Amino acid sequence: NTAQTLAGKTVIITAGATLEPIDPVRFLSNHSSGKMGFALAKACHDAGATVSLIAGRRVALQTPFGVERIDVGTADEMLAACQAKMRDDEQMIFIATAAVADFKMANIASQKIKKTAGSDGLTLELIKNPDILATISEQFPNAFMIGFAAETQDGETYAQNKLDAKNLDMIAVNDVSDSSIGFGSDDNAMTVFFAKKYARSKVQLPKAPKATIAKQLVSCIAMLTTK
Ligand code: C5P
Repeated sequence: NTAQTLAGKTVIITAGATLEPIDPVRFLSNHSSGKMGFALAKACHDAGATVSLIAGRRVALQTPFGVERIDVGTADEMLAACQAKMRDDEQMIFIATAAVADFKMANIASQKIKKTAGSDGLTLELIKNPDILATISEQFPNAFMIGFAAETQDGETYAQNKLDAKNLDMIAVNDVSDSSIGFGSDDNAMTVFFAKKYARSKVQLPKAPKATIAKQLVSCIAMLTTK
């Protein structure tokens, strides 16, 4: 019987990996499992929020009870799905846990790419994907914005820069150089940094199951969004 600390709030969460087609049979993606985003979706719902989970369609996890799930493929589709769900008001909370592919094909091949006799190489031309979190943050300035970051070094410096660059309220950073946590793992350990208007404070969340970390993150969110 969890306290309804997010009652009246609407939470939109991105989770898992995006998938960028190369040709009709191949794609670019990454190893994100979606576990952190799904754990957060459950924790936000348990805290009384209305939750929509915008998930990469290869995520192989059960949708948490009571949560609306929208499956998407590419980063462009994920952004469009988020824009369709967002409103620009202070009851909205946007949480970006998805591992969005930084690049997509400049032109998706319409036919399967073939090996060419006499050539040992193949060059693909890639272009940048939109930054979903930065775009949503700019378009919906009254919503509360939360980012995640996986860093292998100088976590705090990158985190503070990202907080400012993407105009976030808080960012949760985990150290992916430790293979016992993060990608695919059931555990996580994070440091949460808060924006300038919250005096740039920080909170350390020691290694724990993702469900526990999710509850602690919800407490942080509730503390900053409820007056
Ligand atoms: O800049 P970086 O990729 O490290 O930022 C990570 C944060 O930004 C995560 O919250 C991630 O979900 C979000 N992001 C995004 N769209 C991108 C890249 C990152 O929403 N194209």
